Amino acid sequence: MKVACVVGARPNFMKIAPIVDAMSRADNLDPFLIHTGQHYDEIMSKVFFEDLGMPRPDVYLGIGSDSHTRQTARIMTDFEKLMEEHKPDYVLVVGDVNSTLAASLVASKLRVRLGHVESGLRSHDRDMPEEINRLVTDAISDDLYTSCADAAPNLRKEGVPEEKIFFVGNVMIDSLVKHRERSRESSILEDLGVDSKGYALVTLHRPSNVDVPETFQGILEALGDLSQEKPVLFPIHPRTRKRIQEFGLESKLNQYPNLRLEEPKGYLDFLRLMDNAALVLTDSGGIQEETTFLSVPCLTLRLNTERPVTVDEGTNTLVGVDPEAIRSAGKKALTGDAKKGTIPELWDGKASERIVDILSRFA
Ligand code: UD1
Repeated sequence: MKVACVVGARPNFMKIAPIVDAMSRADNLDPFLIHTGQHYDEIMSKVFFEDLGMPRPDVYLGIGSDSHTRQTARIMTDFEKLMEEHKPDYVLVVGDVNSTLAASLVASKLRVRLGHVESGLRSHDRDMPEEINRLVTDAISDDLYTSCADAAPNLRKEGVPEEKIFFVGNVMIDSLVKHRERSRESSILEDLGVDSKGYALVTLHRPSNVDVPETFQGILEALGDLSQEKPVLFPIHPRTRKRIQEFGLESKLNQYPNLRLEEPKGYLDFLRLMDNAALVLTDSGGIQEETTFLSVPCLTLRLNTERPVTVDEGTNTLVGVDPEAIRSAGKKALTGDAKKGTIPELWDGKASERIVDILSRFA
């Protein structure tokens, strides 16, 4: 069975890598890797292929950045041509980015069987573009592979029949388990001159946080105050860097020498940084899960999460974006009073094998 595996943006790569790897060991599955080019900078894309030991994509569409509609439409147009040319038997999409949505719509219109990995996550916040992508992709998928126990109830509420839902576990944790040892060889702590547990790590890129000047400035001030406790490392997403320039926030950042803006990091360097952080502050979805697995305390700078298992069972706390709340939760965590957690069910490094076992049955 020829399986078109679709990736586009940074958080897709660590999800598809272990699936393609497991698929290449199955006798009856032929993976065909398509990169839409939604993310294209070397540090947002190529580095991840190298770090994760992924094969080069069979096809690179080179779509690039644009408005959501134009980006999605361009992926759809090019992906449809590709489907007609290569005629895959199955399309596998991961996560919740625009590439996930675009490829799903095309597969479903062409009546090619469609599987969605990381299905059933819901923030119940339609202001998030990813929530729309998740809802639509799940509604039109044939097979829904879920990563945690709270996903299936969301799908059932939306009327998804039981036989379409497969609780397989978390493929992103497969990558983490596989590469954790190797990440220990990264020299990133030495390069940045920080000690294990001697710093906080920050990522921010959600439009709701970085596209609104007052919100973004308030968060930066809170992070600046926290950097007086411990250095705060802030590898910066291209979208966030643009906003700093656009809103003239450089002078604000200069007030805090210990709030250190860094280039985005590759997979292995970032994994080592997370593993050794005293605290992680983020608005990313995936990092909430990775810190839970690593038992590193995480403060999520959002009002909601599509990954409640990381709060109920893991090390994650939702703090929102009020600067005072970030300051006080951050100080508490950095002074040793951090949340402990447990690892959710089936986050065991074997989710991809379970997916491939299921796919093999369809072949
Ligand atoms: C996308 C995903 C988001 C995911 C995030 C991870 C959607 C709707 N959003 O958001 O779910 O959490 O990726 O990073 O799919 N840019 C570059 N170089 C790149 C890519 C982007 O400079 O390689 C800049 C461009 O100015 C672009 C902006 O970043 O306009 C935003 O990129 P885009 O892919 O539209 O969304 P992200 O914010 O990255």
